[in-house]
Amino acid sequence: MKTPSRILVTEPIPEKVLGVLKQTGDVSIGEKGQFQEKGALEQVIESYDALLTMLSVPVSTSVIQRAKKLKIIANFAVGYNNIDVDSARAAGIKVANTPDVLTEACADFTIGLLIATTRSFIQAESALRNGAFKGWEPLGFLGMDLNGKKLGIFGMGRIGKAVAKRAQVFGLSVLYHNRSRLAPEEEKALNVEYVDNLETLASRSDILSIHCPLTPETTHRVNAEILSLLPSHACLINTSRGPIVDEEALANALHQGIIGSAGLDVYELEPHIHPKLLTAPNCTLLPHIASATHETREAIGMLAANAIRQVLSGVPDHRIPNLIRP
Ligand code: GLV
Repeated sequence: MKTPSRILVTEPIPEKVLGVLKQTGDVSIGEKGQFQEKGALEQVIESYDALLTMLSVPVSTSVIQRAKKLKIIANFAVGYNNIDVDSARAAGIKVANTPDVLTEACADFTIGLLIATTRSFIQAESALRNGAFKGWEPLGFLGMDLNGKKLGIFGMGRIGKAVAKRAQVFGLSVLYHNRSRLAPEEEKALNVEYVDNLETLASRSDILSIHCPLTPETTHRVNAEILSLLPSHACLINTSRGPIVDEEALANALHQGIIGSAGLDVYELEPHIHPKLLTAPNCTLLPHIASATHETREAIGMLAANAIRQVLSGVPDHRIPNLIRP
């Protein structure tokens, strides 16, 4: 009898997803955070045929070198910068991510974070809880109107586009910069204006929202210079990946009033938060939860689990839509 495939899931995920995986092979589930520890995955990976990993787990070249039986790495995320894809490919291991299914949840969240930040929801709420609400006041917690302002979107992929659509409901006009420009018909349909460099986008935006993937080119792309080009009332939103922003520069920009506010869901060295951000004014800090809804996390898991099921049962690559292609 054929020995069942062994599947490692690095932390607990929705039950329904585990159900699919259990029909595919023997499933081991790590504890919360267990495989974030350096070296933890290296120690166990050798005996597994498939890995369903979280974005917080580095799947580095040294993990891949020990993964003698591994056929697929499925990331429980759309961004897959935690995986050394070139090493995986060289070792003949397929890599899958989870596009599309989290677009709407992340776009909703981005708009929520933008409003929470520009209207100081979190600071106002904690002031109230601390007993500081002494009655309505004309000058308390003044924020910024969205109507008539400009939203700059850096990275016009699926999530960027979904944010652009929502933003216009609030009277924001949308500018964008992306590696490649959208087709004219799509720009027209989305009612967005292309700007050919990030510097100009920053100088023309009241709010700059980051939606590009983390790559060597985008690492620290939002640096002191870009921040200094934003108007002093501007709000920076990042729901993409932390290292795209130079956090030290951002914390300084907030402390020095170079920009007005920032809403962050992602950080350079998660789960570490730069101490200067913790004390920065007008800064909303959330713990990487943009895709955290019941429906979306289940859909993410299903897409990742299906890629594992398909690869382990020999489905050809071209029939697995969420494999990362060279
Ligand atoms: C979440 O951050 C994702 O990339 O899916």
